[in-house]
Amino acid sequence: MRVIIERDADAVSLRAARIVADQIRRKPSSVLGLATGGTPLGTYRELVRMRQEEGLSFSRVTTFNLDEYVGLSPSHPQSYRYFMQRNLFDHLDIDPMRTHVPDGLAADYESYCRQYEQRIEDAGGIDLQLLGVGRDGHIAFNEPGSSLGSRTRLKTLTSETLGDNARFFAGQEQVPRLAVTMGVGTILESRRCLLLAVGESKAEAVRATVEGPVTSQVTASALQLHREVLVLLDEPAAGRLQRREYYQEVERAQTLLETGQLRALGIGTTLDGGSHGDGSRTGGSHNGDGASSTHRGD
Ligand code: F6R
Repeated sequence: MRVIIERDADAVSLRAARIVADQIRRKPSSVLGLATGGTPLGTYRELVRMRQEEGLSFSRVTTFNLDEYVGLSPSHPQSYRYFMQRNLFDHLDIDPMRTHVPDGLAADYESYCRQYEQRIEDAGGIDLQLLGVGRDGHIAFNEPGSSLGSRTRLKTLTSETLGDNARFFAGQEQVPRLAVTMGVGTILESRRCLLLAVGESKAEAVRATVEGPVTSQVTASALQLHREVLVLLDEPAAGRLQRREYYQEVERAQTLLETGQLRALGIGTTLDGGSHGDGSRTGGSHNGDGASSTHRGD
C-alpha cells in the first residue's frame, strides 16, 4: 500500500483527478471503476474541468460503478445512476453505452449480478478502481462480515450506513435497505485501486484499513492483499495512523527518485563515501502517476 497524505480535501481531489487523467492518457481505452458519495465529488469536478479546459477525452473510456440502491430507478434523484450522470457523465464526451451502473430494478438479481461481472470481464477487467470508505470500513457496499472473496450481489446495509446516507434522503426511513454491489473479490481483481478518504470522521476506518488486521469486519482492509493500492488522504483522515511519519518519508524518497536525485538516496554511492556510476536514473522508472517500478511504497 502506498499512503499519500495531502494537506486538505481539495489537494486530495486534484491529485486523484491527475491519477485518473494520467491513466486515460496512457491508455485511452481504459476501464475505470467508479464510486459515488461525497468523497469523489471534487475529483469528478476536476475531471470535468480537464475535459472542458484541457481537452481530456473520455471517448474510448469504459466505466463500471461499484453499486446502486435496490428499488431506485435511474431517474430517481438519489439513485447512483442519476448521481453519475449529473456529476460526471453528462459533462464528458463519454459514450453512454460504455457507462455501467448496476441496475436497481433488476427482476432477477442473481442472473443480473452474474451478467455485471461478465461485462467487466468482457471489457478486459478494471484498470483503475476509485474507492471511498465508509465509517464502518466498507468498500462499495461490502458491509462488515462480507466475504473477502465476494462477487457482485445484493447486500443489506448496516444501520450506520443508512444513518450516514440519510443526509441525501428525506429521512433515514427513505434510504433503501438493500444495494447491489460489486464484491470485495471483484474489487481486488482491478489492476490498480485508488482509495480516497477525507475528514476526521474517516480517521478510524482509515487506521483499520491501513494498519489493522485483514478482516471481513473492515472490508477495506482486504486492500492490503492487493499489489497496487494507493491510499490518498487529507490530514484529518490520516490523523490516527501510527506510521504516518514513515509514509511521509516514503513519499519524500519517491519524489527524489522521480526527479532523478539518486545520490540523495544513497543510490550510486558506497558506504565508505565513494561513488560509482554516473548517478543516472537506475533507481526506478517513473510510470506517470508517481509510482516507480522498484519503489512504490507498497
Ligand atoms: C459509493 C460507495 C461507498 C462510499 C462510502 C463513502 O459508491 O461505494 O462505499 O464510497 O460509503 O461514502 P462518502 O464518500 O459519501 O463518505
